[in-house]
Parts: sequence; C-alpha cells; structure tokens
Amino acid sequence: MAPDAAAGREPALYPASDLLGPDTSLIYNDWYPAMRSGSLKGRKMATAMLLGIPLVLGRKKEDGRIFAMRDSCPHRGIPLSCGWFDGSAVTCKYHGWVFEPESGQCMEIPSLTSQDSYPRRIYANAFPCQEGDGYAWVYVPRPGSGRVRMEAREALPPVPEVPKFSARHRGAHLTAELPCNVDHGIIGLMDPAHGPFVHQAWWWRSRHSIHEKEKHFEPIAQGFRMSAHTPSANSAPYKLLGVYGEPIETTIDFVLPNRRYETLRCGNKWFASLTTVTPTTPGHSRIDVYAAWNVFYGVPFVTAVAKFFGKRFVRQDQITMVQQAEGLKFNPGLMLIDDADRPAKWYFALKRARLEAEESGRTMQHPMDGPVTLRWRS
Ligand code: FES
Ligand SMILES: [Fe+2]
Repeated sequence: MAPDAAAGREPALYPASDLLGPDTSLIYNDWYPAMRSGSLKGRKMATAMLLGIPLVLGRKKEDGRIFAMRDSCPHRGIPLSCGWFDGSAVTCKYHGWVFEPESGQCMEIPSLTSQDSYPRRIYANAFPCQEGDGYAWVYVPRPGSGRVRMEAREALPPVPEVPKFSARHRGAHLTAELPCNVDHGIIGLMDPAHGPFVHQAWWWRSRHSIHEKEKHFEPIAQGFRMSAHTPSANSAPYKLLGVYGEPIETTIDFVLPNRRYETLRCGNKWFASLTTVTPTTPGHSRIDVYAAWNVFYGVPFVTAVAKFFGKRFVRQDQITMVQQAEGLKFNPGLMLIDDADRPAKWYFALKRARLEAEESGRTMQHPMDGPVTLRWRS
C-alpha cells in the first residue's frame, strides 16, 4: 500500500528492539536438532553446538543408539572429543577416565589404587538424545537443573517429527548457518511479507504478483496455526500439484521453541516439512529443513529438483540474514507492523509466557484467546 493510497485503518506499529531478547533468554527443557544423525557411525565422535553448549556425539555399537555429552571432561575440562570412543565407552585423553556415554556415568578412573573405594557418583554431563527424521535430537535442560537421569527420560515429550501420510515417501534435508540471534531467524520463518522480495523467481513469485491476503489463525498448544486453506494461486509449485486435479489444502503451524510445520495435501498426495531455527552460539543460529513427500513419487529426478529449488530458497533467506546481521551490529531501533508481523508478535508473547511459566512453576497461559483473521499483501 503506497502512502497516497486510500486510507483505511492505521496499522499498529510496535517498537521491537525490546522484544528481541538477548541470547540469555533461550528456551530450555526441550528438544533441538544438534546435527544429522547419519554421519554418526563407527568409532567416530562428532561435535556440535547447541544453545552455547559444546557437545560430543556418537553412536554405540551394541544397540545403535546415539548419545550426546557435554564436550568437557568432568575431571579437568578437556573436550571429551579429544579422547577415544571404542563403540561402547568414551575415554578421556588426559587421565583416561572412562565414561558410559548415554548415562554419562564414569566407569573407570585409572589413577585409583586397589586401596581406593570407587566413587560411584561421578558423571559426565550426558543429555537425552534420540534419532528422528535423520537428526540427532538433543534435550537441553535448563543449566543448573542437573542432568536428566536415565529413569526420567521416558517421561520427556516426544521428539518432533514431520507428519507423514503414507509409508512410501521421499525426503530431503537442508541446512544453513544464520549469523543472527535465534529470534530474528524464527520471526523470519513466519514472515509473509518478505516472500515477494527475497524469494523473487519466475518459478515462485515476483513483486508484481503481490496481492491482498486474508488468513485465519488459531491458537494451538505452545503455538498457533494458520488454518487449513488453499495455497497462494500465484506460486508455481502449488500450480504443479494442480495436475492431480484434487483440491489442495495447506496448514502451517508454529510451535515453540522453534518449529514451523507445513503440510500440503492434495487427495492422497502430500508434502510436509519441519523447519527449525536453533540457537548454536551466542549471535548465531542454524536453520534446518526436513521435507517429506509422496507427490510425484517414482518420477525420476524429483528429489534432485526439489533439493535444487529448496537450496536456492534457503540460500535466499540466508543471504538476506547475513545482510541483516550487518545492519543489526549497530543496535538499531526496530519495529513490527500489523498485520504481517503479528505472527512475530505472537511468537514473542508465547516465548515470554513459556519462560514465565517455567520460572513460576504455573501452567503456561496462552497469549491468544481465540481465532484471529489477519490481512496483508504479499
Ligand atoms: S581431564 Fe579428563 S580424565 Fe582428567
Ligand atoms: Fe524466506
């Protein structure tokens, strides 16, 4: 809408600088993807960063289960990844303490003599770790709350997963490092107004294809849903699905701490994805996309083509965020504008509600009290 265009309601503007929390306001007590799990094999140990915590990961030979420990020996702090993993235990390089990597329990301290009684209660900091959709998911408890004991792991919420609607399907992963605070990455996930500018392409949409939209949202547990609707008619990938001649319906969910689920269904054909933006080190995050589909199943090269376009798409976001990070270095004042930035506002409100609930021990109060209709042009 240009300034001289017919005036209706004045859109609400919100100063946003105070909404963007420092890296200290992270959401703990939840699952985050640390890395792709396929690369964990043999006696190899891999390292990853999650919420500023250095991790060492590997896969046990006996049962194929993966593990994640803080990459730091509880004796004198050398990274455990400098040591050795024999397929069942991790040995520290410095003084040879041996750890069972899933529980973190110390099994052997070579310097102890036969006169010493063995200290049973020494643990390296091991995190609950599970494989899902090709990722090593790690549950990160709030620092200082102690390790999550093996007995307590059963009670954790399930690992996030892309919904799949048929046994036969294909899938692909994409990942990109983002040089920004996790909040900027997450609000980028749910920002409808950047599409025609950042993702301009003949096969997607152009700034001339901008048109008015009306979308319905509703609160869901820990997030909100863009209710089932027929997707934008002006984007080619959606047009492609037209070949099936069935109505197309898509749903987009945002769920704390960092998850965007998108599901597209067209008869018994479907496409679904889970995108997460995960804080790694302070000031950095990583975007991971896992998409699964049965559309065009069996048509050659579809996975290659999907990956090619998916990569380009994520790359466009990544380049934009690298550029944005340049501007953010100087702590500018920021704002959010209705209605296109309302999902971003909901994210901040949800995050605040969750952090407050954790602090007070009370149940989380959802900041939305019912369905909302938003209108914007994109
Ligand atoms: S620092 Fe690891 S065993 Fe001493
Ligand atoms: Fe984007």
